[in-house]
Amino acid sequence: MSSTYARRIREVQPSATLAVDAKAKAMQAQGIDVVGFGAGEPDFNTPQHIVQAGVGALTTGDTRYGAKRGNELKEAIAAKLKRENGLEYGAEQIVVSSGAKHSLYNIYQVLVDEGDEVIIPAPYWVSYLEQARLAGGTPVILETTEESGFKIGPAQLEAAITPKSKLFIFNSPSNPTGAVYTPDEIRALAAVIEKHNLVTISDEIYEHLIYGEIEHLSMGSLSKKLLEELVITVNGVSKTFAMTGWRIGYAAGPKPIVAAIRKLQSHATSDPAAFCQAGACEALKNRRMSDEAVMSMREEFDERRKHIVQRLNALKGVSILEPLGAFYAFANVSGVFGRELGGVKIQSAMDFTNVALDKARVAVVPGEAFGSPRHVRLSYATSRELIDKGLDRLAELLG
Ligand SMILES: Cc1ncc(COP(=O)(O)O)c(C=O)c1O
Repeated sequence: MSSTYARRIREVQPSATLAVDAKAKAMQAQGIDVVGFGAGEPDFNTPQHIVQAGVGALTTGDTRYGAKRGNELKEAIAAKLKRENGLEYGAEQIVVSSGAKHSLYNIYQVLVDEGDEVIIPAPYWVSYLEQARLAGGTPVILETTEESGFKIGPAQLEAAITPKSKLFIFNSPSNPTGAVYTPDEIRALAAVIEKHNLVTISDEIYEHLIYGEIEHLSMGSLSKKLLEELVITVNGVSKTFAMTGWRIGYAAGPKPIVAAIRKLQSHATSDPAAFCQAGACEALKNRRMSDEAVMSMREEFDERRKHIVQRLNALKGVSILEPLGAFYAFANVSGVFGRELGGVKIQSAMDFTNVALDKARVAVVPGEAFGSPRHVRLSYATSRELIDKGLDRLAELLG
């Protein structure tokens, strides 16, 4: 008898992230005071002017298929990509989806066939890998180290390319490491992509969360060929405008790819919720108010970043390469391996994570989920008080 479940779902790994999250939530439900560093989302509320635009859409009857502001949103995205990223896309080259995760899923589904190779630098955001598997693709992982700043180089990319290579996933700033590629590093990778006609997703969802000197550069802006044939830019409003629950993301890219995505989405989900599109439209068009909100969130994240890095480095057996973007601290806990903590011998990031949760009531995400078993990820998108409370507990655990 054939299996109840389709092969595509049998081959997807259950998420280690979700397992830890479920355990932390179960403890919280029992009244245990757990400090959570798991969430991959800003802890701020969506700015009020955006909320009002969403509410306004609902009260004025923007509640049907085909958001009233759907075209305006695509125009606003095209204008944003031109102004901020130097990307010249027409509105017809943009597909708005239910979050950037959905945009990525769509791209994999229209490009990747059984056996196609998808090149993914590690540490990676876990969905890159599982979405490749869901499409029948084979992930080809490019390892990086702290010495390379968790970044790949052009020779490493070129060496991974085979006749089966279908897609390369590029993410700067990175979840989970916070690594940010410099413009020169991006140019070097782009040269390889162009030479080998390697279709590339540039996931730029954290572009506005960069701290320090490095300027964000959009891969697709580097040449006509990259823009028109090779690069699909993925972005969204979740992280920049604290709108994770609105579920609005987008893909912009070569016309035939975008047309294929539209076809797929038309049969799967159609357009995202109308009032959410109205909110996203406001976020992108009311630049004065949005810029102010983005700037103040970034400043606060930066303060927390410096603080958490300093506190993590002070922990016995823990070290961290300073993250320069996003809102994650990716701490190396391999210095703790071999030690006994709370009666458990620590041999992996997963062990560390379990002990941190069971004994110190601190929830972190094990690096195994990101292809990096020596690290744990802490999101600092949480208040400074909670950062201190959690780090005090870890300090006590580690001695
Ligand atoms: C690297 C990266 N890309 C894409 C997403 C998806 O964001 P959303 O679906 O909320 O737009 C996330 C969210 O965690 C992410 O970390």
